[in-house]
Amino acid sequence: MGKILVTGGAGFIGSAFIRNMLDWYPDIHIVNLDKLTYAGNLDNLKSVDTKRYTFIHGDIVDAEVMEHAIKGCDAVVHFAAETHVDRSLVGAKDFLRTNVEGVYQILLSARNNDTSRVLLVSTDEVYGSRDVGSAVETDMICPRNPYSASKAGGELLGKAFYESFKLPVLITRGCNTYGPYQYPEKVLPLFITNAMEDKPLPLYKGGEHNIRDWLYVDDHCRAIDTVLRKGVPGEIYNISAGYEKENIEITRKVLELTGKDESFIQWVPDRPGHDRRYSMNSDKLRALGWKPLVSWEEGIQKTVQWYKENEWWWRKIKEGEFKKYYEEQYIKRIIT
Ligand code: NAD
Ligand code: TYD
Repeated sequence: MGKILVTGGAGFIGSAFIRNMLDWYPDIHIVNLDKLTYAGNLDNLKSVDTKRYTFIHGDIVDAEVMEHAIKGCDAVVHFAAETHVDRSLVGAKDFLRTNVEGVYQILLSARNNDTSRVLLVSTDEVYGSRDVGSAVETDMICPRNPYSASKAGGELLGKAFYESFKLPVLITRGCNTYGPYQYPEKVLPLFITNAMEDKPLPLYKGGEHNIRDWLYVDDHCRAIDTVLRKGVPGEIYNISAGYEKENIEITRKVLELTGKDESFIQWVPDRPGHDRRYSMNSDKLRALGWKPLVSWEEGIQKTVQWYKENEWWWRKIKEGEFKKYYEEQYIKRIIT
């Protein structure tokens, strides 16, 4: 498969993609360009020890850095982003910079370098909330928070570069992803590690019946690899697992697997504009031969087990940058 530039490869899904691709393809070389924001963590790549991997510390918005990183790469798989909805509600400047301007720079550099495939990793959140049925790729997008609006902006630029310059852009829209090495601001790692620390699980009140579709991270990586190899340029592919769960259900599952009872649930004010349900149809991707291999039951058990066995990884994060964020976001807003 040659040489691939991965952006944001020190984050949750990007690092899993790098670990998996190096495993799956003995001849592949991966260049990882990552700014190492609060969410970027080189601990996620500790197990990667090979001459087939190069790390570049830099910003995708920086033209010089991008031109250098992309040189000689056959494809770009773009993960780098600001990714947390709640943070985007506090302030979205970094979201616009990385998720829109950053994509623009990637597209420019890919065009300059005749890159043969540019895969933009996007999200089901661009469809907005969906009360009934499941979104297909041709549905109108309707993002409802600053994070999803910025991701939609990046997607539209990608589509524009495909239409205007025939740049071979592919877009994937993944559903909620979970697994090892996920930063503990996201609901599952937050709840799992809080339970392990005997701390309460902050569930958004009024949002407890909201629904997300849960995809195990390695299945997300397999889907991206499938689209990279078999997808048609200019096309969008939904990646959905079909494990739609209410927030209260996933909370109860975490309590069960960590041996805690419901008194550990702590009600906090709901997220403003909280999307009620995400749901996608992924027949188009499944027609390329992909399907999820890890069930919700298996995935959540593996995930809880990993956080139990890897306290070294998450305890230092929770003692670092995360501490102040948690204080502002939760402790000051508890509903008593
Ligand atoms: P993450 O927050 O764990 O990691 C993001 C990574 O991007 C970090 O390593 C960070 O340092 C890097 N980064 C941020 N800004 C950068 C910049 N300007 N230049 C270079 N690097 C930068 O994210 P994640 O959860 O792994 O998500 C990866 C991608 O997948 C994102 O594009 C996200 O929108 C998309 N996605 C995520 C989910 C999910 O449930 N996590 C679902 C669907 C799609
Ligand atoms: P999150 O992991 O932030 O992903 P997304 O907003 O991209 O779906 O949140 C998943 C769901 O969990 C969402 O409906 C909001 C809810 N949630 C809580 O109830 N409490 C929390 O502390 C967090 C972070 C999320």
